[in-house]
Amino acid sequence: MSYDIGVVGLGVMGRNLGVNIGDHGGSGRGYDKDLSKVQEIETEAGSRAINAAQSLEGFVSVLSTPRVIMLLVPAGQVVDNVIHELIPQLERGDLIIDAGNSHFKDTDLRAKSLAEKGVLYMGVGISGGEEGARHGPSLMPGGPKEAYERVRSIFEAVAAQVEGVPCAAYLGPGSAGHYVKMVHNGIEYGLMQLIAESYDLMKRGLRLSDEELSVVYSIWNEAELNAYLIEITSHIFRKVDERTGKRLVDLILDEAEQKGTGMWTSQDAMDIQVPTPVIDAAVVARNLSALKSEREAASKNLKVRTSRFKGDRDAILTQLKGAMYASMVITYAQGMAQLRTASKVYEYSLNLEDVARIWRGGCIIRAALLEDIRAAFHAHPDLPNLLNDDHLSQAVISKQKDLRTVVGLAVKLGLPIPCLMASLAYFDGYRSAWLPANLIQAQRDDFGAHTYERVDTRGVFHTNWE
Ligand code: 6PG
Repeated sequence: MSYDIGVVGLGVMGRNLGVNIGDHGGSGRGYDKDLSKVQEIETEAGSRAINAAQSLEGFVSVLSTPRVIMLLVPAGQVVDNVIHELIPQLERGDLIIDAGNSHFKDTDLRAKSLAEKGVLYMGVGISGGEEGARHGPSLMPGGPKEAYERVRSIFEAVAAQVEGVPCAAYLGPGSAGHYVKMVHNGIEYGLMQLIAESYDLMKRGLRLSDEELSVVYSIWNEAELNAYLIEITSHIFRKVDERTGKRLVDLILDEAEQKGTGMWTSQDAMDIQVPTPVIDAAVVARNLSALKSEREAASKNLKVRTSRFKGDRDAILTQLKGAMYASMVITYAQGMAQLRTASKVYEYSLNLEDVARIWRGGCIIRAALLEDIRAAFHAHPDLPNLLNDDHLSQAVISKQKDLRTVVGLAVKLGLPIPCLMASLAYFDGYRSAWLPANLIQAQRDDFGAHTYERVDTRGVFHTNWE
């Protein structure tokens, strides 16, 4: 027996993806040094053409050639270690696919060094967690086109399907797939923080109970705010802790962790000079949350008098819903704008309609809104910013008042809403034909003779400001 595909790393993701491949008629051989993981996949695979080996030789030798080997191992050094172990066993024309959250620059380096050995390399983003891997993830493949053609049919079969269309599409050469996955995660950070801010406003501001919060998110999920993250939030508020009988969410320590993909999105946005303030603010919010003991001390030292909410709770809830919608559009707009510039800088030739299409299902940021985003790029593939799309811009304009009201309320109540604020500031900045950057230029020229341009004549000028 020989196998279509090899899977290295049989943790939850590797195991579930393996079984998913088996569900779609593919044959797969897994490899993991951990015997218990080898046994787990064999048990779960049942009669599917999926099994596993604990030795590398027993894994590689039974794969059909040219081989296709998918790595589902943690990003970082482990990827290099696995590649290093595999190389002596491989032949020219074999294909390695890194399906982890690797940094896109690492993917480019690995692809280059493997190309010198005649081995093809793809960086593929997979989103959807364990459930997605098992029943249909969103797949974001990048790398040599001919390599993708080899795996296209299995990728399209295992991916989530939306209206019969698979959430998998070839995105571009080199690290295109990992770059798109990184920005997916940046948007994920932004949306999660926006939802957390709405929770804070409703909990500490409007004094809603967990039960009421669950109802609000569930109602939101039924209309234009329909999104996977809103849906799970509604479930989370209902979950009761078995040990104490209390709502579990209230027993969870308020320090957000991170593996780095959101931070990388912000870092690269800075490098290629694309403003992504919602994503930046979301990363900062996680960092601030991690300063738990400092925050506890400061809560005693930095006491200030703030208002308590006295208005119409239902009216504010409606406005909060509008504010969330506007902010979500703005978050996707920033991520898409980053992809647009990155596509030029890194020569990915991304098709943003395809990106929006494969994010409509399977992934963590899937939302009803993504169909509107897909349609926007279908109509105008070169749209510089989603805020230029007729439909989305009208939708944001119709909700911008809600966003202002909500931001104003949070300021009065003394509640931190960095991502809602960042959305509004971005919206107001983007729609400003004039910004006070002329003063920045004057200051730069004053203290450092950095020169400036004028609005009335062409050329570069310097003034002695004394
Ligand atoms: C996905 C997720 C996933 C990521 C988690 C955790 O698309 O399935 O993005 O890849 O690992 O979101 O990320 P943090 O630990 O950075 O929050």
